[in-house]
Amino acid sequence: MKNCKIYCNGLLYEAPEGVCLGDFLRERGFDGLVCGGHGKCGKCRVTVSGALSEPTETEKKALSGKDLKAGVRLACQTYVKGDCTVNTKENGSAVVQTGGAALDYPLMPSFEKYGAAIDIGTTTVALRLYDAHGSLLSVQSGINPQRRYGADVVSRMEAALSGSAADLASLIRKYLCSLLRAAADDAGIKAADIDGAVITGNTVMLHFLTQSDTEPLTHAPFAVKRLFGETLSAGSLGLDVLCKETPVYLPRCVSAFVGADTVTALVSVPGITKRKTCVLTDIGTNGETVLIHDGALYACSTAAGPAFEGAGITMGMGGSDGAIDKVTVNDGRISAHVIGEVPPVGICGSGIVDAVASFAELQIIDETGYMEDGEAVVIPPVVITEKDIRAVQLAKSAIHAGIKTLLDSAGLTCSDAETLYIAGGFGSYLDVKNAARIGLIPKELQERVTVLGNAALSGAAALLLSSPLKESSYELANNVKLVNLASNPVFVREYTDGMYF
Ligand code: FES
Repeated sequence: MKNCKIYCNGLLYEAPEGVCLGDFLRERGFDGLVCGGHGKCGKCRVTVSGALSEPTETEKKALSGKDLKAGVRLACQTYVKGDCTVNTKENGSAVVQTGGAALDYPLMPSFEKYGAAIDIGTTTVALRLYDAHGSLLSVQSGINPQRRYGADVVSRMEAALSGSAADLASLIRKYLCSLLRAAADDAGIKAADIDGAVITGNTVMLHFLTQSDTEPLTHAPFAVKRLFGETLSAGSLGLDVLCKETPVYLPRCVSAFVGADTVTALVSVPGITKRKTCVLTDIGTNGETVLIHDGALYACSTAAGPAFEGAGITMGMGGSDGAIDKVTVNDGRISAHVIGEVPPVGICGSGIVDAVASFAELQIIDETGYMEDGEAVVIPPVVITEKDIRAVQLAKSAIHAGIKTLLDSAGLTCSDAETLYIAGGFGSYLDVKNAARIGLIPKELQERVTVLGNAALSGAAALLLSSPLKESSYELANNVKLVNLASNPVFVREYTDGMYF
């Protein structure tokens, strides 16, 4: 039996002739096989070209003629006959973020056996474990334990200045060790066999991890002494579940406020820097936005707060079982979807965006965000309070104003942007129409949005799996020009106007 080349999401694999595409993808983390590959759900849609089996009767029933013509197939019904190309982006939410857009690069891993890509967010931490073929073995995530020192980076830096720097470092190091251990267990390997890692994060998070002095980051002119773009040993980072000498790469940051996470988010979109005009915004506790225009990169950062990460909201939570992730209005009544089909216990970022948009539609809140009863039920027992609405208002107007100001600073308007990429852990499930409805993104850009999900992590995975990207991401970071929003009258105006619904 001959081996065939499968170019999947930009990465090259080899697989034996006759393999079922569904099985091939399942081994690489694809979770679109909703009915288990029995041809019943029609959810395993992928786009293909090359030497593959002819469409089956099942596919002819499930797919339109137009789809089949465009190369759309059901992965579980399709068999590899020779070299072919497969793209799982067609499958939208059903793709575990195996890198998604991130893996459009040659497979040249910076490890021999297993590698970990990690994103340390201010609120959440996420990890993906890969083998040297680029297969995703495990995904782990959780809440950054540094939160006990405050939800935002400023309070944590204050804590570091008051003598807690060592504890802040130790908290994240221990937590990373526990995620690495969990991923190794999940994959049935030894954590010590993980022989390479890339850890991205905002500038402050990387300072805490390396126990670097954050004092210069707390006041103007925010002169950063350490911007990373360096390889350290696991031992020096206290990652004692790994072998001491295991190389850990920390990607380059741009400034105190535009971190390595933004740089890796950019890397996750191949060819983004070659685009005429586009915008990428990473919605996390800080909203970092980058404008790419005629080969130049401009960036800004706004303090959005953690509302869209489900934190700082009365019943907010991450996107796990029990979280309301989708809210709709049908015949004037609110209905909601709960992750895991279990009774609701809280609401995550995408649900919050939907809920606020629904409240606005049903006039439960007015355009100022005022709520007559001080709170409103999404579905019992989950409520959103007026205080939560305020947190959403601050976050959404900060992001919105950042995008508009950045475009304005280059003499552009929304009509010039070809694409608005939205990155951020919650992004995969974001309802773009509702995001525009509440003013999180400019309405004019609604039709041009591409949602990326956790692009910072995807970019870290790309650096891990395609080593030359480390150098190009370093250069990319050095080429970004910063736009100061604090004194910018356009930002002040847009921020104030953007508070309304
Ligand atoms: S997995 Fe259900 S149709 Fe393919």
